[in-house]
Amino acid sequence: MNRTSIKLDEPLILVGCGNMGYALLRGWIDTSTVDPAAVHVVEPVRVLRERAVALGVNTHETCETLPAKAGIIVFALKPQAVQNELPSYQRFSDGTVFVSIAAGVPAGKLKLLLESPRIVRAMPNTPTSIGKGSTIIFTGSAVEDGELENVLSLFKAGGAVHQVTREDLIDAATAISGSGPAYIFYLIECLGDAARELGLPAEVASKLAKETVHGAAALAFASNDHPAELRRQVTSPNGTTAAAMSVLATESALSALILRATKAAFQRSLELGGAEELGLTSSGQGTK
Ligand SMILES: NC(=O)c1ccc[n+]([C@@H]2O[C@H](COP(=O)([O-])OP(=O)(O)OC[C@H]3O[C@@H](n4cnc5c(N)ncnc54)[C@H](OP(=O)(O)O)[C@@H]3O)[C@@H](O)[C@H]2O)c1
Repeated sequence: MNRTSIKLDEPLILVGCGNMGYALLRGWIDTSTVDPAAVHVVEPVRVLRERAVALGVNTHETCETLPAKAGIIVFALKPQAVQNELPSYQRFSDGTVFVSIAAGVPAGKLKLLLESPRIVRAMPNTPTSIGKGSTIIFTGSAVEDGELENVLSLFKAGGAVHQVTREDLIDAATAISGSGPAYIFYLIECLGDAARELGLPAEVASKLAKETVHGAAALAFASNDHPAELRRQVTSPNGTTAAAMSVLATESALSALILRATKAAFQRSLELGGAEELGLTSSGQGTK
């Protein structure tokens, strides 16, 4: 994994240090990507500020006490908070690169709220907190190459980073990798419940479920074989796996369910952005 320390001429500001904001911050500090002294976190919740202070960064209850200038500002706010909160940061619009991880909020809307074309949209996921994340990045032409490199380094601190050139692909990625860890956690829960139902002790059941998902994912990464081939290697004709697969795959039962679920997430990502309300659509709305 390519992790690079960033030399910041101006402070890095993180707005919102909840689940995802803290996951990002942990990654930056644990990998020494940024100097904690250069990071300023704005977070209204006291316990979350205290958690950030323990990493050695500066914290603020509101944006009023922030330094006058910033190189990069990362917004890790709920989409519902974006409309009210972002205009307070217009004073940074001269020279700052603004990064938003808010699901569904289009670059065009961010550009209006911040009065700046220097916008990057990113969609990380929670495994970022342990360096195993996946982040999709979309940016417009107003962000210069050197600035983008710094932004990419911030997300590489948490795992893999993929750039897309069409903004609607961020909404698609939200439905896959952004929300995806929750689908896998649910699979672990379901496997554990099934193990208990089949008589395994609770502690063993839960460990077996986690180890199986962890081991299968690691094998899929380590092997050159397609996942379908790896699946075939476990599935002897008329064997136990074949019996289970006949339930999961008959009439594409599981794949149809996953497609329905991801389409629902994709649709919700579009709705959260309020794109229609502002006469903007996520698709094709760049920062140009
Ligand atoms: N969680 C994920 O897996 C994930 C993955 C990818 C992207 N995202 C995106 O990341 C964003 C944040 O999600 P999250 O799960 O991290 O939410 P979260 O845990 O609720 O974190 C947001 C934090 O921002 C705080 N906040 C509210 N107003 C603020 C303000 N004016 N200034 C500074 N901080 C403020 C919130 O405080 P209050 O609670 O007091 O409002 C909260 O602590 C969402 O847009 C989500 O779509 C999340």
